[in-house]
Amino acid sequence: MQFNNNEILLDEKSMLVSETDAKGVIVYADESFVKYSEYSLDELIGKNHNIIRHSDMPRAAFKELWSTVKSGNVWQGFVKNRTKSGKFYWVYATIFPFGKDHYLSVRKMATKEEIAKYETLYQQMRLGERAL
Ligand SMILES: Cc1cc2nc3c(=O)[nH]c(=O)nc-3n(C[C@H](O)[C@H](O)[C@H](O)COP(=O)(O)O)c2cc1C
Repeated sequence: MQFNNNEILLDEKSMLVSETDAKGVIVYADESFVKYSEYSLDELIGKNHNIIRHSDMPRAAFKELWSTVKSGNVWQGFVKNRTKSGKFYWVYATIFPFGKDHYLSVRKMATKEEIAKYETLYQQMRLGERAL
């Protein structure tokens, strides 16, 4: 794994997969997802997916994610995740309905430019949310 201070950098081949039930409880995580999270598989299974939510993420992003997948559609977007030790990594996530009332997320690397853009955009959204 490559690091830049507190940031963990994914490479082009990285693919992080997790599956949740209808409420967002993790029921499956692949080896890469587990590795980047810094949790053990046992610590992840049965937990709400917000266990890796980073405080820089705007609420509106998750609201949109959930309304999209709950209406049967595919959501794609950029997500900053927090690791167990407080590091972070950015992904480009594709999340979709899977099986009976479950959801699947496949995450790939985000580029430096995308990360810079979404750091700024999400920061502005967070400020807006705090003002509400
Ligand atoms: C399949 C799936 C994958 C998800 N992956 C992430 C993720 O990687 N990081 C994250 O913060 N939230 C993820 N979420 C959203 C969380 O369920 C949750 O809505 C979010 O962390 C915000 O927490 P909150 O809903 O308690 O405010 C995912 C949801 C689904 C359905």
